[in-house]
Amino acid sequence: MENANGCITVNNLWKVFGQDPGRIIAPEWQDRSRSEVQEETGCVVALKDVNFSVPEGEIFVVMGLSGSGKSTLIRCLIRLIEPTQGEIYIDDEDVLACNDSQLTELRRTKVAMVFQRFGLFPHRTVMDNTVWGMELRGSGRDEREETAQRVLDMVGLQGWERNYPRELSGGMQQRVGLARALAVDPDILLLDEPFSALDPLIRRTMQDELLKLQSDLHKTMVFITHDLNEALKIGNQIVIMRDGEIVQSGTPEQIVMEPSDDYVTEFVRDVRKESVLKARNVMKEHVTNGTNGVDGEGPSCGTETLLEELIPMLMEHQKPIQVLDHQDELVGEVHRDDVILAMAH
Ligand SMILES: Nc1ncnc2c1ncn2[C@@H]1O[C@H](COP(=O)(O)OP(=O)(O)OP(=O)(O)O)[C@@H](O)[C@H]1O
Ligand SMILES: [Mg+2]
Repeated sequence: MENANGCITVNNLWKVFGQDPGRIIAPEWQDRSRSEVQEETGCVVALKDVNFSVPEGEIFVVMGLSGSGKSTLIRCLIRLIEPTQGEIYIDDEDVLACNDSQLTELRRTKVAMVFQRFGLFPHRTVMDNTVWGMELRGSGRDEREETAQRVLDMVGLQGWERNYPRELSGGMQQRVGLARALAVDPDILLLDEPFSALDPLIRRTMQDELLKLQSDLHKTMVFITHDLNEALKIGNQIVIMRDGEIVQSGTPEQIVMEPSDDYVTEFVRDVRKESVLKARNVMKEHVTNGTNGVDGEGPSCGTETLLEELIPMLMEHQKPIQVLDHQDELVGEVHRDDVILAMAH
């Protein structure tokens, strides 16, 4: 893809741990389950024929239970783990064809990773942790500190520059990890369960802050989580992994409305659907027949209005809600029954 800045393409990616891993990709093993392969060969199929692409500037969420292959996948993208087979492109660079110095360059300039348990240097201050990537890159001291200060301000850590990680709460340490990644101004951020260690309140705040940052920065992000509510809140696209395979990919609404199998359905059961589904997902489309104009009296909403806002409106007014597009044209109506059906699905 030309002129792109941060798109990722993954084709037929496999990672098998164990002796002589290449043999497991042969046809006779491909249809066998992960546990069968492990029992008979001792090899673990951590990634099985994974395909996806991430457009520039989007947040791509990878979600799945423990052991489903998420960390292996994100690490393979910059070859912190060597894939067994497949193709990875970052923009038009063939990652598997990179030599050592090209890989180092890729990791220092284009892609930054935020690790699950912060991965901070305990003997370095917040400032010195933040400038680390820029040191590797060889930037001058003034430039390093100026940039670090800017990103520390951005993540709300001004005043903590001279403190050590142990003097910070978990949420603050996580922000240092994020600041350190942002300081190198990468096109791509890889985040491996960055918020999983945080308690729910701080976690929600961090999610909101990440989304706020993203509305300014428009980075391409691969974000890993095992929490579907987090995935739905943060992701533009979500893939769900099970035993090394992608079992579903789609937008948050697609995942909630059409879970592909029992595994995904089980995740979706606990989701607050009203915070994911929008008026356009449940409305009856308006058919223009010349007689149905917009009724200025009744309640109305936009196509992107969430059900959580529509429900109180439906309770207050005893009539359907008119759905208007961004030019204020009537495009549909939301009826109470449609909302009840969607929520019960
Ligand atoms: N170095 C390794 N050697 C052998 N097997 C490994 C290795 N690393 C990971 N695995 C196996 O690969 C599978 C996928 O592991 P991975 O760490 O990618 O899962 P995960 O989805 O990130 O899980 P979690 O949510 O617990 O972090 C697991 O079955 C794991 O045991
Ligand atoms: Mg992991």
